Amino acid sequence: MWYKDSVFYQISVRAYKDSNGDGHGDLRGLTEKLDYLQTLGVDCLWLMPIYPSPLKDDGYDIADYYAIDSTFGTLDDLKALVKAAHERNIRIIMDLALNHTSDEHEWFKASRSDKNSPFREYYVWSDTDQKYQDTRIIFVDTEKSNWTWDEKTQQYYWHRFYASQPDLNFDSPKVQEEMINVARFWLDLGIDGFRADAVPYLFEREGTNCENLPETHEYLKKLRAFINENYPDRILLCEANQYPEDVRPYFGDGDEFHMGFHFPIMPRIYMALKKESAEDMIQILQRTPAIPENCQWCMFLRNHDELTLEMVTPDERKWMWEQYAPDPRMRINLGIRRRLAPLLDNDRRKIELANSLLFTLPGSPIIYYGDEIGMGDNIQLFDRNGVRTPMQWDSTPSAGFTSGTPFIDLIGGDFSPAQVNVAAQMKDADSLFHTLQRMIQIRKAHHAFGRGTLTWLETNSAAVIATLREHDGETLMFIHNLSSQPQTFKADGQYLNLFTNESETLNELSLNPLSYHWYKKL
Ligand code: GLC
Repeated sequence: MWYKDSVFYQISVRAYKDSNGDGHGDLRGLTEKLDYLQTLGVDCLWLMPIYPSPLKDDGYDIADYYAIDSTFGTLDDLKALVKAAHERNIRIIMDLALNHTSDEHEWFKASRSDKNSPFREYYVWSDTDQKYQDTRIIFVDTEKSNWTWDEKTQQYYWHRFYASQPDLNFDSPKVQEEMINVARFWLDLGIDGFRADAVPYLFEREGTNCENLPETHEYLKKLRAFINENYPDRILLCEANQYPEDVRPYFGDGDEFHMGFHFPIMPRIYMALKKESAEDMIQILQRTPAIPENCQWCMFLRNHDELTLEMVTPDERKWMWEQYAPDPRMRINLGIRRRLAPLLDNDRRKIELANSLLFTLPGSPIIYYGDEIGMGDNIQLFDRNGVRTPMQWDSTPSAGFTSGTPFIDLIGGDFSPAQVNVAAQMKDADSLFHTLQRMIQIRKAHHAFGRGTLTWLETNSAAVIATLREHDGETLMFIHNLSSQPQTFKADGQYLNLFTNESETLNELSLNPLSYHWYKKL
């Protein structure tokens, strides 16, 4: 159960490091940067899609599941990356988009060519666009319906995302089998598992919202059984943007997903920081059911998508938009397209505090590439591209990302490569990079972070969060002061300060504004 103690790191290969000067990051470039990732201390990389794609959805519109887009390199480059990563004890999982393909996938081209095509059943076709009316639209800014009319064959096809991403029909045994074969292909190349994209939507049933259906769980259990049987130790990480009670079934009885992202806690961490109160966080964690022993939550602050506000109430969403996305360009669909550092006013204390919460809540943390150095965003860029800009390796104009012309504009202003870059932060012992590196080191030395129970301790202010995490005779205590004012916390006993490695006798603890404290009970 390595994934319980691991720190994950999400990478856009296109934006990470270009090795051949074509302006696009690639697998060889990423391989060159494994030493950096090892120095940071992360254990498992999640690579965003590298399959051939017309890029209508940045690669989540897959045109061929059995190849790598040539801008990223070759299958041999991937094998070399996996080998070099494994030599450094770093694992690699890839994105697997099961729910839909690109409309340029051969299956869809065949499917739409003729109603009698053997591939017709691979997708969801209908004479009417009135089916499944209880299903929400996800990309509300661009899509008016989940159905799109196909002129040639005079039927509608179903899609939960862009119209250029037709949904596969999981009622077809052929589709079910195809996707197992896809998984086998990549697992045979040595990858350590998948981040399974958009899994709630695999099946459609009239009279439901077409999410989280029993049929979906049944299929995912088959996928898991296949992995258990043939590839023990590889993992499936679930992207189900749902409330905890709806994500819970994705863990099954420990026989479905190994891991699942905890979506609802994420916006509540931002609420807590702004409101200086942990109330919403505590509530959602109390509402989070227990999961089987071999399962793990994956906790995140940001990713490549908008900071989703799907799992909050409409009032909370409005409030979050007002607080964190005052400029309408910062908003997209039901979320906020900004990165961590700008969201938190580029205030080092808030950025560290948020990361400390990320690391100390139950689950395994995942860091979005660039957030370990506090990279910025660009709200001028299309769709969610503003949070997917090139990694800033050094202070040169192209940030050490490429010797050519970057595929997309680099960040300017306060967050430009001259201000924010890896080289400078690696030289500076007090940099954010080194703080994150230290958090990772500490977490790795204590299994209670990944495996411990959670107890909320009483505090004298809503702004002070104090938790105990206990595992195997070890007790860790974490204290966070969300307030911009000093606070106190009453503790007593002997503790080891995990950051200084010094033993302290605690009684009335003074907490600096926006501070965090990690202790181990002695
Ligand atoms: C997932 C991805 C997102 C993509 C969508 C459709 O939510 O995270 O980037 O647009 O699936 O594939």
